Amino acid sequence: MKKLLVTGGAGFIGANFVHYWMAKYPADKVVVLDALTYAGNMANLDSVKDEGNFTFVHGNICDQALVEALLIEQGIDTLVHFAAESHVDRSITGPDAFIETNIMGTYSLLKAAKKVWLDGKSILEGHRFHHVSTDEVYGTLLATDPAFTEDTAYAPNSPYSASKAASDHLVRAYHHTYGLNVTTSNCSNNYGPFHFPEKLIPLVVTNILHNKALPIYGDGQQIRDWLYVEDHAYGIDLVLQNGRVGENYNIGGDNEWANIDIVKTISKLVEQEFIKNKALATRFPNAKAAIEQNTESLITYVKDRPGHDRRYAIDATKTNNELGYQPKESFETGIAKTVAWYLDNESWWQSVMDGSYQNWIAEQYSST
Ligand code: NAD
Ligand code: DAU
Repeated sequence: MKKLLVTGGAGFIGANFVHYWMAKYPADKVVVLDALTYAGNMANLDSVKDEGNFTFVHGNICDQALVEALLIEQGIDTLVHFAAESHVDRSITGPDAFIETNIMGTYSLLKAAKKVWLDGKSILEGHRFHHVSTDEVYGTLLATDPAFTEDTAYAPNSPYSASKAASDHLVRAYHHTYGLNVTTSNCSNNYGPFHFPEKLIPLVVTNILHNKALPIYGDGQQIRDWLYVEDHAYGIDLVLQNGRVGENYNIGGDNEWANIDIVKTISKLVEQEFIKNKALATRFPNAKAAIEQNTESLITYVKDRPGHDRRYAIDATKTNNELGYQPKESFETGIAKTVAWYLDNESWWQSVMDGSYQNWIAEQYSST
């Protein structure tokens, strides 16, 4: 039986991981530590919040004393670190929070883990610090380049990816220097339920339902490698169970798409849902283009993201071979499930698209 501390467990991937873990390992104890920034939402944990083996702690990962107390009082043996500022566009307009949470926050967690697990009266054998990272630390690829492996040199290009790269290096150093039992996973773009609607896929679905423009940065030919979020949770599970301490593992779905094609695919799927289910036109009367079956008319090319990485692609051969990892969801089924989830969960996305998000969007577009 494990006792997990999950940082950032009220965010998109963290919450999906908590659902996955509690369903698969019902005897384990799960403590979530989350600062509930604009991206964290208690509604994401609604279905587990009353379980006896679940505890939510509202707090900041930069609060070392709080983390030390949690590790001791809750008897934590496994820390799974998701908490981060995660949106590249926000890192361009306001990098400070990324440096603070992603670098200083990770450093603070490492110090707490070292103090409690290694420097106490006795070393906690079998402890694990798992760091959730991204493919963005590897930089960008040309169309003909091979996909990123764990040996690809780090070359982060945005303040977000630079802050994640710095945190990866700190995690590595705490293993090599102090012997902390760490693992790191570098994953490609996730999609699925609870994805905050500032990110491309949920933004496209919710904008169609509001009959708003679908903004395509630059020429729309940038490529991302999309993975259903539960398959990310499954990959982390395998790393926690059988991954070698001190190692990095790439997690990805071998599923590259140009942005413009993703947007067109989602537009088509929403249109098909409106044909299948006539009640949607009544529930979403503003979704004029979906009702009239011409959602592609909403596609609008806008100014490119500064420093926009052209292509990401993950080579997960090491994780496949060593840990037997294979994604379970196909893109066809995963994206259909995701679109259906957003159509069924209007109250969720309406509630997260509150004042702070709208203000940020307004600021961003007024400055371009
Ligand atoms: P998210 O922005 O949806 O959620 C981040 C969570 O962290 C939120 O609940 C937020 O409240 C919390 N948080 C932020 N700052 C905090 C702090 N200082 N203290 C405590 N909690 C804090 O992010 P996500 O998309 O779920 O990403 C989770 C992790 O996975 C991140 O580390 C990200 O870099 C990594 N990742 C994301 C993707 C992706 O496609 N979204 C892909 C690969 C890796
Ligand atoms: O690759 C993993 C990364 O994926 C994670 O580390 C990040 O936390 C996560 O946010 C995601 O980063 P991206 O920048 O790739 O995701 P985003 O959804 O913001 O954008 C996906 C692509 O779509 C990217 O090329 C930018 C483009 N885009 C995005 C938005 C929001 C648009 O063209 N229009 C948009 O409005």
